[in-house]
Amino acid sequence: MSTVDNRIAFVRGAFVPLQDAVIPVMDRGFLFGDGVYEVTAIIEGRLVDNSIHLKRLARSLAEIGIPNPFTIEKWTEIETQLMQRNELRNGLIYIQVSRGVAERAFQYADDLEPTVVMFPQFAQIQSNPLTRTGARIITVPDLRWARRDIKSTSLLAQVMAKHAVKQAGVNEAWMLDGEQITEGASSTAFIVTRGNELLTRNLSRDILPGITRRAIIGIAERHGLTVVERPFSKAEVLDAAEAFYTSASTIAIPVIEMDGVCVGGGAPGPVVRSLYDAYLQDVMALPASLS
Ligand code: PDD
Repeated sequence: MSTVDNRIAFVRGAFVPLQDAVIPVMDRGFLFGDGVYEVTAIIEGRLVDNSIHLKRLARSLAEIGIPNPFTIEKWTEIETQLMQRNELRNGLIYIQVSRGVAERAFQYADDLEPTVVMFPQFAQIQSNPLTRTGARIITVPDLRWARRDIKSTSLLAQVMAKHAVKQAGVNEAWMLDGEQITEGASSTAFIVTRGNELLTRNLSRDILPGITRRAIIGIAERHGLTVVERPFSKAEVLDAAEAFYTSASTIAIPVIEMDGVCVGGGAPGPVVRSLYDAYLQDVMALPASLS
């Protein structure tokens, strides 16, 4: 990787070179993981599902009592500025809001100023080779806390899951609560049953309400697929016609193997392919923020 990093970030109210950006050591995001985040995709100059990501950010902040520093319009303006200043046509914008800077103590004052950090990442999301080849995954126990619906920056369980992924030489982990799949380490889990139903876990405090999940369900319903939202087991994955996972950074990736066992005939299936294509078509119909 090149050591030259010319990216411009937005840190504590100012646009600054990412290489020079700093936050105080006493930031509660650093000391306690006391913060939340969002990841929004940029495809061909378009901010994908952006207002829904910003609404989820507002909800995450409200759930942990951090005041939302900006309106949706202001967040969008800063994101657009970041795209323009970085000539970011394809990739991601990362947003993190922590409770702010204070002497280290578990309890917090109500008048802290939240710390906002935003930076771009360059990636060709729409040309991920896994879309064509399919992904191999492993299952790991879901070690997370009881409020997985909040997009918390406390990600140690997912960091451990992703390290297991690396050690196994695979692409993603699906997390297990007993026999049931909760979700991917950084994605939402779906299967297509042999009866051609699209199955994904129902929203609750057990999983993150994925924005791509929501879009894919909408497309599936438009295409006349029956969508069922309920927990499903590892055995159901192994018996499924297809399995795939979704996230802002990957769109929809077919699963061809789980824990060394073939899934969906060991090749990407037609349902995930058509959902992926329809998703990209919807994205390209959005107005571009950067031409
Ligand atoms: N992660 N579930 C978990 C645990 C996630 O971390 C993510 C996304 C998703 C998918 O959500 P969405 O469709 O809104 O991206 C589900 C992001 C990409 C990340 O942490 O980098």
